[in-house]
Amino acid sequence: MALFSLVADDLAAVNQRLREALQQHNPVVREVSDYLQEASGKMLRPALVLLAAQMGDAARLSSDVIDVATAVEMIHMATLVHDDIIDDAELRRGLPAVRSRFSDPVAVLAGDFLFARAFQILAGTTRPPLVDMAAEVVYVMATGEISQHLDHGRIASEESYWRRIEAKTGFFLETCCRLGATAAEASIPVRDALGRYGHHIGLAYQVGDDLLDWLADPAVLGKAVGEDIAVGIYTLPIIHGLEHETYGRQLADLLRTEMPDLAEVRRLLEVSGSIDYCRARAQGHLDAARAALADLPDGPRRDELIGVADFIGVRDH
Ligand code: IPE
Ligand code: IPE
Ligand code: MG
Ligand code: MG
Repeated sequence: MALFSLVADDLAAVNQRLREALQQHNPVVREVSDYLQEASGKMLRPALVLLAAQMGDAARLSSDVIDVATAVEMIHMATLVHDDIIDDAELRRGLPAVRSRFSDPVAVLAGDFLFARAFQILAGTTRPPLVDMAAEVVYVMATGEISQHLDHGRIASEESYWRRIEAKTGFFLETCCRLGATAAEASIPVRDALGRYGHHIGLAYQVGDDLLDWLADPAVLGKAVGEDIAVGIYTLPIIHGLEHETYGRQLADLLRTEMPDLAEVRRLLEVSGSIDYCRARAQGHLDAARAALADLPDGPRRDELIGVADFIGVRDH
C-alpha cells in the first residue's frame, strides 16, 4: 500500500490550497514564492493531520482540516527556510536552499512570510483552539532551536539531546495529530492516543534524520550530509560514540581536527555500536507509537498510521 493512499485526494487539495496561499501579485515576492513551490517535500505533517482527522467524527469534518493541513506544511517550510540559514546549508529538497538561490536576508523574510500566511489561514478556521495549538508548536520549536544554538560546539548530554528533539520535532508531529483529531472533534481519549503516537514517531523521525546526516546518499536525501557536526551540533550518534571506552577518545580526537574525515567518523560510529544504538532507540519509539494506537478502532485507517511508523523505520530520504 502506498504511504498516504487514504488521504491522497485530500493531500492534492492541500497542495492546491498551498499554491493559492503562496500566490503573489507583487512581482518581487512572486519570484520567491514561485521558487518555494518548485520542490515539495514528503508532506508528512499534513498527512498526519489528515489521517488523524479520519479517526474523528466523519460527519464533523469540515474545510478546517484542509486549512490546518496546509498551514502545518507552511509552518514546516518556514522553519526549513530559516533552519538552512542557521545551519549554513546549501541544498534543500534537491534544490539550492532559498538562502543560496536568493540570499540570507531574503530567506529570513520568506520564512516570516510563510509563518504569517500560515497563521492567516489558521485564523480563518472555525475552531478556536487550532490557532493556539499551532502557535505553541512554533513557540516550543523556537525555544528548542535557541537552546540548540547556544549549545553550539558543546557536547550535549543524551538527556538534553532528547529534550532538544522533542522541542523541534516530537512536539510538532504530536500536535499535527492532535490538530487533525481536534478539527474532526474526536473524543479526548482518541486525541490523546493520536498525540502519543505523534510524539513517538516524531522522536524516531528526528533520530532517523540525525542518522541520515551520517549515512544517507545526498542525491537521494536531497540535502547535504555531515552538516550537523560541521556547524557544531552534536547529535545522538556522536553523543553515544564519545562515551565508548575504546573508540570514544579516537572520535573526540578526530572531531577536534579542523576538517574531520567524515568516512573515518562514520567507521567509528559503526564499530562503537552507536549506529545500532540509534536505530534501536528509534525502533523503540516506533514500537511505542504503534502501541499508542492499540485502543483505536482497527481497520485501514489505523493500518495507514502503522504504515507511516514502518516507513520512518526504513526511510532513506
Ligand atoms: C526535515 O523534515 C526536518 C526534520 C524535522 C528532520 P522532512 O524530512 O519532513 O522534510 P521534507 O518536508 O520532506 O522536505
Ligand atoms: C530540523 O532539524 C529543523 C527543524 C525542526 C527546525 P535539522 O537541522 O536536522 O533539519 P535538516 O536536517 O536541516 O532538514
Ligand atoms: Mg538543518
Ligand atoms: Mg538534519
